[in-house]
Amino acid sequence: MTRVGIIGQRGLVGQKLFQRMCAEQDFEHCQAVFFSGSQAGKPAPLMSTEAVFQDAYDLDVVASCDIILTTQGSDYTQTVYQPLREQGWAGLWLDAASALRYEDNTTLVLDPLNAQAIETALAQPNPCLVGANCTVSLLLLATAALWQQDCIEWMHCSTYQAISGAGIQALETLIQESTAGQTSNTHYAYNLLPWIDAQATPGQSQEEYKGVLEGQRLLGRSEPLPLSYLCVRVPVLQCHSQSLVFKTNEPIKPKAMTALIQDSSPWTRVVANNREATLTQLTPQSVTNSLDIRVGRLAPLAHDAHLWQCFTIGDQLLWGAAEPLRRALRMALKLYG
Ligand SMILES: NC(=O)c1ccc[n+]([C@@H]2O[C@H](COP(=O)([O-])OP(=O)(O)OC[C@H]3O[C@@H](n4cnc5c(N)ncnc54)[C@H](OP(=O)(O)O)[C@@H]3O)[C@@H](O)[C@H]2O)c1
Repeated sequence: MTRVGIIGQRGLVGQKLFQRMCAEQDFEHCQAVFFSGSQAGKPAPLMSTEAVFQDAYDLDVVASCDIILTTQGSDYTQTVYQPLREQGWAGLWLDAASALRYEDNTTLVLDPLNAQAIETALAQPNPCLVGANCTVSLLLLATAALWQQDCIEWMHCSTYQAISGAGIQALETLIQESTAGQTSNTHYAYNLLPWIDAQATPGQSQEEYKGVLEGQRLLGRSEPLPLSYLCVRVPVLQCHSQSLVFKTNEPIKPKAMTALIQDSSPWTRVVANNREATLTQLTPQSVTNSLDIRVGRLAPLAHDAHLWQCFTIGDQLLWGAAEPLRRALRMALKLYG
């Protein structure tokens, strides 16, 4: 049976991945070995073939796996990936971190959009599959049909990104600040931060840069998408929300627009644009731990028949991180036997 090394299970994405793998009975199709950078020798989750966590930095043990599925973060990937390949390891590397996203032999994974590209990559030597930026994965699952049918002249997204998108320590910091009633200009609690990650280009954050570039790659386009972002961290626990304004190439009737959005993925659900539906179905709390990609507040803008608005929410720990990797793992297990 295929031996799968799972690295980073203790983190937020790792926990979500583990829950989904249990729910989908993925462990029945592989021998799972769990690794940690800090807990080697401590009891591993029940699904592990080894009783204890293995050392994530012991390359010989890591190399004993046919597939590595890591949600440990970019620092880990940068430390381990190259030495592992240099010592001849030829297995499948599946990664949630951004470190390898722009390497030549990396394929981004979001199989409702690019299953064919994933299958092609799985058949290559030294395959490397990496989850895309959470915000753009959620955006494309909400609007894929519009892009695939070339309806978009341009789109602008303002994001409202949950603290859990920054990892478990940021989440713990928000909870401590909120409990203590503390805030300041740099705090998460009772505040928002309209800049996420480093500066990529003058006036553009790394998060905004990644969204545009990775959207292009997920859609398999040779030209940059007519897409722009303003990314904001808000003190929401889980789920990324996005407010979209977009211009269509041709006027589209409201019924046809609703159908296009609905067709974007089997998980995309249009929420009626009224107070009751919006406040019960279009909030981070109502979407948390669900695979739904909800799209509401959908309406043409009165002054221009080509202009539309909508508001979309998805759980960034699921479709923005764990779920595309889990599904790619199942594709690989089917292929490799
Ligand atoms: N969070 C998201 O929404 C999201 C979305 C898309 C992509 N990603 C990417 O996925 C990767 C993992 O993100 P993450 O949010 O899961 O990171 P995280 O919660 O910070 O966890 C990463 C690692 O931190 C260690 N850790 C440190 N303190 C811990 C504690 N108190 N409890 C549990 N683990 C602790 C664990 O490794 P040890 O076992 O070695 O200690 C864990 O595997 C990153 O590269 C991130 O950029 C995240």
